[in-house]
Amino acid sequence: MLYDTMRVEERLILKELRDLGANVALINIDNVSLSLNNSGDFGVVLVRPMSHSKAGLVARILNIHGVMTINKGLAIENSWNKAIAISTLAKAGIPTVPTKLLFSINAQGDGVSYPAIVKPIHGSWGGRLVSLVGNAEDLAMILRHKAVGDSYSRIAMIQPFIGDGTDYRVFVIGDEVVASMVRKPSPGDWRSNVARGGIAHAIRLSADAYEIAIKAVKALDLDYAGVDLLFSGGEGGYMVNEVNAIPEFKGLMSVSGINIARKIAEYVINTVRR
Ligand SMILES: Nc1ncnc2c1ncn2[C@@H]1O[C@H](COP(=O)(O)OP(=O)(O)O)[C@@H](O)[C@H]1O
Ligand SMILES: [Mg+2]
Repeated sequence: MLYDTMRVEERLILKELRDLGANVALINIDNVSLSLNNSGDFGVVLVRPMSHSKAGLVARILNIHGVMTINKGLAIENSWNKAIAISTLAKAGIPTVPTKLLFSINAQGDGVSYPAIVKPIHGSWGGRLVSLVGNAEDLAMILRHKAVGDSYSRIAMIQPFIGDGTDYRVFVIGDEVVASMVRKPSPGDWRSNVARGGIAHAIRLSADAYEIAIKAVKALDLDYAGVDLLFSGGEGGYMVNEVNAIPEFKGLMSVSGINIARKIAEYVINTVRR
């Protein structure tokens, strides 16, 4: 198992793998060097670094050298890049949040209807960089604010505001939903991230929500993932907002009572045996 920070999740998966009798090597990617010229001696690699950019890169290199990783490197990169993820899912016929990319801080946002959500392509951990904009002046100000960093980080995604910010986390392993929960924004906020005081509880969703999540995991070539859905009344229904290829799950474990770490460990071990 590769990691960079030992979160609760990594500790729990490690414990379950060992309880199931697996012989686990634990590698902190920040403390080792990776040879680009040969594969080294790896079995199946569970990829759990918090840094998605490092995780995707390490996994891709291992995959090139024929090492099996969970998740696959390209799948991690394609999910982490929300623009690529939404495009891939839309192409596969999966409902996704209608999204446009703005490439310049001077973009006018033609055809945008307000209120709208503006966010970067890469996840912002807790919605810190996700903004609600009410009109074109707001949009211009937010885009100017983003004028830091390289040209890539200035690319903005813009979406209609769906529902009331409530989002649904569906945790999929293989082709099965193992747990799901709803996260509601705290009063006065519209971001449901638990880091922002969002309130989570377990919920059983309709079959169509689960089908969307399972298809999303398949379309992105993931082994397991946390799929986040938004819900729009009327015609909209459930749509994918983002897919987490190295998901945290301690919150979901505690609200659902389901041992997700155990299920991941079982999946990894079954993959090794296959
Ligand atoms: N298009 C949207 N409509 C309504 N709420 C949204 C939308 N996009 C994001 N949010 C709210 O903001 C939160 C954070 O946005 P998200 O896209 O999940 O980025 P992050 O990577 O920071 O978690 C979501 O959980 C949801 O509550
Ligand atoms: Mg999110």
